Amino acid sequence: MGVNRLPLIAGNWKMNLDHLQAVAFVQKLHWTLKDAKHEEDSVEVAVFPPFTDLRTVQTLLDADKIPFALGAQDLSTKDSGAYTGEISGAFLAQLDCRYVIIGHSERREYHAETDEVVAAKVQAALRHGLAPVICVGETAEDLEKHGAAAVPVAQLEAALAGVAADADIVVAYEPVWAIGSGQAATPQQAQDVCAKLREVVGSALGADAAARTRVLYGGSVKSANIAGFMREPDVDGALVGGASLVADEFAAIIRYQKHVGV
Ligand code: PGA
Repeated sequence: MGVNRLPLIAGNWKMNLDHLQAVAFVQKLHWTLKDAKHEEDSVEVAVFPPFTDLRTVQTLLDADKIPFALGAQDLSTKDSGAYTGEISGAFLAQLDCRYVIIGHSERREYHAETDEVVAAKVQAALRHGLAPVICVGETAEDLEKHGAAAVPVAQLEAALAGVAADADIVVAYEPVWAIGSGQAATPQQAQDVCAKLREVVGSALGADAAARTRVLYGGSVKSANIAGFMREPDVDGALVGGASLVADEFAAIIRYQKHVGV
């Protein structure tokens, strides 16, 4: 974890928790952190509920002054018009979303999202003041053929085409073979690729952006392994799937500093 970068622990709920379940979950997470006297300023917490939950969660965060950032799991490349089923970044901005996940491997795989689509979505997010959480990662096959870094590096280079040097972005290294598999990368593997991704940010956007941008690791993160990742200099947080759906477990991940002395 870099000294000047605020760690970000992000919970990607994927297609889980309806808007009623979301209320119960967010309240429980908040109480759990409060009971544990978690220091709010030490880590940024973000939740990424399904679209249909966003308004409800926004209202709850606002009413109860819960210091979690809100994010969406995807957005349209377009801003408005005849695009049935698509969600505009303008609408997400109106819901106080700070982040939007772009290029998650499940979108790339099940919705055939190409690097061009990902790049267009990054532009759409930035047009509306949303910070894209740009996901990159290699499959098991890529890993065997090209090593760990080649595919994520190429994906990030494509995603950053045309992005301004002062853009607010987050990068998430998510090896596809580690997602939902229970088999996380090792901290060293994560560090090696995250360091290369930071170099890509540096080449595309400059040294300031490289120093400022948070690079997350994602893929089977849990409370038992988060500390190892957070000790690495180029890993600034985690994008958490399955373990972000269990309030006690997600709270323990957020509190990684307590149980390890990072
Ligand atoms: P996982 O998912 O934590 O369940 O492996 C991570 C992700 O897909 O972002």
